[in-house]
Amino acid sequence: MKLRAALFLAVATAVPLAATTVRAQEKLEIFSWWAGDEGPALQALIDRYSAQNPAIQAVNSTVTGGSGVNARAVLKTRMLGGDPPDSFQVHAGQELIATWVVANRMEDLTGLFKSEGWMTKFPPGLIALLSAKGGIWSVPVNIHRSNVMWYVPARLREWGVSPPRSWDEFLGTCKTLKDKGLQNPLALGENWTYVHLWESVALGVLGTDDWNALWSGKLKFTDPKAVKVWETFGKVLACANPDASGLSWQQAVDRMLKGGAAFNVMGDWAAGYMATTLKLQPGEGFGWAASPGTAGVFMMLSDSFGLPRGAKHRDATLKWLKLLGSKEGQDIFNPLKGSIAARLDSDLTRYNAYLVSAAKDWKGNKIVGSLAHGAVAPEAFGSQFGTVMEIYLSAMNAKAAASAAQAIADQVRLGR
Ligand code: GAL
Repeated sequence: MKLRAALFLAVATAVPLAATTVRAQEKLEIFSWWAGDEGPALQALIDRYSAQNPAIQAVNSTVTGGSGVNARAVLKTRMLGGDPPDSFQVHAGQELIATWVVANRMEDLTGLFKSEGWMTKFPPGLIALLSAKGGIWSVPVNIHRSNVMWYVPARLREWGVSPPRSWDEFLGTCKTLKDKGLQNPLALGENWTYVHLWESVALGVLGTDDWNALWSGKLKFTDPKAVKVWETFGKVLACANPDASGLSWQQAVDRMLKGGAAFNVMGDWAAGYMATTLKLQPGEGFGWAASPGTAGVFMMLSDSFGLPRGAKHRDATLKWLKLLGSKEGQDIFNPLKGSIAARLDSDLTRYNAYLVSAAKDWKGNKIVGSLAHGAVAPEAFGSQFGTVMEIYLSAMNAKAAASAAQAIADQVRLGR
């Protein structure tokens, strides 16, 4: 009897203990490359999530490296190894679809979009970008613009130059600035930022129709028009700092802010860095213009989060996705991030002057997708484009780079 009583007692006391343990194990792992300087917007969202869900421990897993260059490699190992994070940052478009959607590693979120009423809250073009194989595969948290040229208005006044409206004009301005003693008028950073600059040069040289034709396979990379992009790119590079590969994108922005360069071409996360992290006033501390030759065009990309099959904390992840896609979540995140909401109903009074102007352009401009940030080409092309860039940089031969790009386009059956 004594033994039975003891056993009963042990079981009775073990039950609440077990329940406590289960509660403490409720977690949500959010995986992204928004580390350090890039972190405040994500942190604000996580803080809101934690306030809404005090019993869930939100774990912010970041892998440093702009544009996800390192995070994507870590993600690949985890996804292939059957250890997916609960939710991960991924660019809307081919970056997710041509990788983990075709590999059947993601859950279809169409039901969530419908139950949350999102089908009419996001632009139809964006939903189309997130869709494939009859499903919708991630929740977009923002819209970033790739084709922006940044500068400090007071410094341009001192130098007597204005933001160039074409790449030819840029080359003239570059010469003027060099003659005035500014050796490297354009601030450039590490490898992926070369590709980022390339897409602005390409859009400016080709225009929207030919840019789109590259990705639908209708314009060959070896077409003289596309070869000209590399030629122009080479001339633009001659205006940039030779130590570029050693600088993060933030350090390249810093170089421009401190007057070591006049311009920097970077996506508008740079506005987030300058306004949120450095506390600069848009319009005074920094100015902006569409990158040369791209006025009236908005080269877009969108950060999104999905639900991998086999996520360890599925319910917690669904709550996270609901916050991400909500008006409240988007208006917490985007004013800090330097992006505009992906939703159509955001409260613009919460956004700074740069973002208000970006929202206006998003509505009125022609929209094209970014190569460097996963919107227009499959990952297999995007990741190998870095090799094309290396080929170009080693010999500065436009035709060689164009032919390498076309070979990769053929390999991945771009546009087919
Ligand atoms: C982009 C991403 C942005 C920002 C940027 C720099 O690819 O979409 O949100 O993080 O990289 O790291």
